[in-house]
Amino acid sequence: MSDHDSKAAPKGRREFLTLLSGSALTVAGLATAGASLVYLRPRVTYGPPSRLSVGKPELYGSGSQVALPEAKMVIRRQGNKVAAISTVCTHLGCTVNPSETGFDCPCHGSTYDERGEVTGGPAPKALAWYRCTLAPNGEIVVDKHQVVAADTFLEIQS
Ligand code: FES
Repeated sequence: MSDHDSKAAPKGRREFLTLLSGSALTVAGLATAGASLVYLRPRVTYGPPSRLSVGKPELYGSGSQVALPEAKMVIRRQGNKVAAISTVCTHLGCTVNPSETGFDCPCHGSTYDERGEVTGGPAPKALAWYRCTLAPNGEIVVDKHQVVAADTFLEIQS
């Protein structure tokens, strides 16, 4: 063994230990960063999706109005046209019921005509009409985030 070899070994060990400690610090840093990201993620509860499929037009007979209580809307079909109308009262959010003249709110007595326009009670504005589209599979998709003017119907093929 030469003199050169005996001096090289301690230097190699030192480099190895330096590398090892650097790697350990890197791993510890990444673990800490990963744990911190968990706390940065907002803890929110997401509501129901705004776009929902309500089935194929054939489900709704011409001249019908079908209440979808869980979706808080009615689907109205007139001939080859369909529309989605909110059943959330614009006063304080109770669910309105379809009536012979339109919609009635059981909470504070607001009444709406068949287009959803306010005809009585404390409701400040009309019921919302939502945009309807046809999905590639032929089902009606209602987007509750897109309010359209009253009497906006989706034309469908019969
Ligand atoms: S919530 Fe409908 S009238 Fe008050």
